[in-house]
Amino acid sequence: MVDVDKVLDEAGLKNPHVHEFVKHWAGVTQPERIEVVSASDDARLLQEALEAGELEPAGEGLYYSQSYHKDTARSEERTIVATSDPADKGVYNNWRHADEIKPVVIGNMTGASQGKTMYVIPYLMAAPGSPLEAYAAGIELTDNRSVVLQMIRMARVGVDLFENLQDPESFVRAVHVTGDLENLGQGTPDDKRYFVTVADERTILHFGSSYGGNALLGKIAHGLRQANWDGWASRKFLAEQYMLIAIQDKETGKKYHIAGGFPSASGKTNLAMMVAPGVLGERYYVEFFGDDIAWLWVGDDGKLYGMNPEYGVFGVAIDTNAITNPNALAAVQEGTGAIFTNTAYNVNTHETWWEGKSPDYPTDVEGWRDWKGHLISERPVEEQRSKDHVWAHPNCRFTSTMSNVPNESPDYDDPAGVPIDGIIYGGRTRDREPLIRAIEDPAEGVYDGLTLGAEATAAAEGVAGQLRYDPMSMRPFLALPEGRYAQHWLDILDQVTDKPLFAHVNWFQRDADGGYLWPGYSENLRALLWMMDYREGRVTGTKTPVGVVPSKDELNLEGLDIDDAVLDQLLAIDVDRWKQEIGLRESHLEQFGGLPERIWEAHRRVAQALDEA
Ligand code: GTP
Ligand code: MN
Ligand code: MN
Repeated sequence: MVDVDKVLDEAGLKNPHVHEFVKHWAGVTQPERIEVVSASDDARLLQEALEAGELEPAGEGLYYSQSYHKDTARSEERTIVATSDPADKGVYNNWRHADEIKPVVIGNMTGASQGKTMYVIPYLMAAPGSPLEAYAAGIELTDNRSVVLQMIRMARVGVDLFENLQDPESFVRAVHVTGDLENLGQGTPDDKRYFVTVADERTILHFGSSYGGNALLGKIAHGLRQANWDGWASRKFLAEQYMLIAIQDKETGKKYHIAGGFPSASGKTNLAMMVAPGVLGERYYVEFFGDDIAWLWVGDDGKLYGMNPEYGVFGVAIDTNAITNPNALAAVQEGTGAIFTNTAYNVNTHETWWEGKSPDYPTDVEGWRDWKGHLISERPVEEQRSKDHVWAHPNCRFTSTMSNVPNESPDYDDPAGVPIDGIIYGGRTRDREPLIRAIEDPAEGVYDGLTLGAEATAAAEGVAGQLRYDPMSMRPFLALPEGRYAQHWLDILDQVTDKPLFAHVNWFQRDADGGYLWPGYSENLRALLWMMDYREGRVTGTKTPVGVVPSKDELNLEGLDIDDAVLDQLLAIDVDRWKQEIGLRESHLEQFGGLPERIWEAHRRVAQALDEA
């Protein structure tokens, strides 16, 4: 039995509540060793991981990791929010009573770290000094070294962060146990995986995965699920799966801050790392604050403020290239310390590759392994370079710290956060949704977020192509029941004197052949520039039943070659399709208990405007 007190004391972790927590869980999971980690341990841990074969070299200061082939994405059906009050049950939070589910997970965790090291990771999901610091502290216990290395990139990690906690008892208690991945019955009726957030105890218990989305507990389990709960319980903030950027107008010096919710694999990372296209770059510059999580609160001046609680990016690699996302490529270049997961890997040259990194496959298949670790050269020749036999997993990712992203904002670390001018929602929608429509009424903005929809993605083990609703892009991360969540949004917005402008965007309209109508990526800036022009009263747009749409001449199309008819289609509102959608939205919203009347009013206003159109 490890002397926990001694290990923690020697590492400088004196907090008695931390001692109590670590002792308790070491008793359950029974590790052979315990080690406290700080970011300064990174180089040593990398070396150990390379020696143990948990990581492979992927170029100078770059690393490759392969996760177990049945463990490559978040698992929504195994993710549970537990509390002690059945009134907390929602539609999407997979609520279970804590008394019922905790013993099951604890049972699976018992003795499951035998022979392994338990790493103690003190972390902070905020810049020190943030008004939300009290909700940001956490300790993750994990028996997986790769998880530690990813946590060091994705969160502020270090013993020093715990030296001056405002409330030494108030930290999220997060326990990650990998389990015997080859014997967990993934996807069978006897599935042993459980990813539980016991929200009212601020305790996270994740068993049975080493994939980032399930195992980096600071990120989604704390930064989103627990914070979704804490934000409501404190009545202080919103925690959302949003990207956060500033658009700087170099001519006027003004910066516009925009936060935005897009379901997983719908473009947050790409939008946040955007480089202003062509001539627009002379006037505009996009600053990166965050690509996946934003916490929003009301400042003393009555403005809505936002910040990114994370310290790094965990981005989808597929289709990332010099044209779509040069800043992402820069963030994973040699010397950045980036980790690639489940891409293809060349055992001779140590290169990584993914579909869409280059227009064609690498010229020589020699030495290349696919994401499962099988040599491409051992496949039948017709399967070596075929779209039906991918090299990289569709959800392969890169992990890199914020500071490696070239357009990281100088204000990213400011504990005061930044004032939010606009909130956007966007999903993958083939038709109906125009390029952008602005929504002025805040309740209608919240209504729009609640009816956000997207096609299913690889990140969530869905069936590709199937459309599903994803309120505020929070469906997999909601701790609260939906009605209460909506009311909390309205309560926060009611306190804001200078309301943000809402808008719905869509980069994914398709033509009859399935091709994208809009070039997307950096060109998306044009839609956001219109949004800011609209907020400033420089353009009026065209009023429609579902919001204000730009007229063609209001969009800045400088340097963009786009067909006039395509533009018409991108900005059109198909009233009949929208009426159909209203019916679907109604059944979607009816599932939720206790939805605020103001949301229903917004719904009826839109429905009526469509009827009268
Ligand atoms: P999570 O990290 O899973 O929450 O997803 P995300 O919202 O950050 O998605 P991301 O930016 O990684 O984009 C997912 C996929 O959509 C990538 O393969 C991108 O290449 C693609 N994508 C992003 N933006 C655009 C766009 O404007 N147009 C098109 N056609 N594809 C895009
Ligand atoms: Mn995400
Ligand atoms: Mn992302």
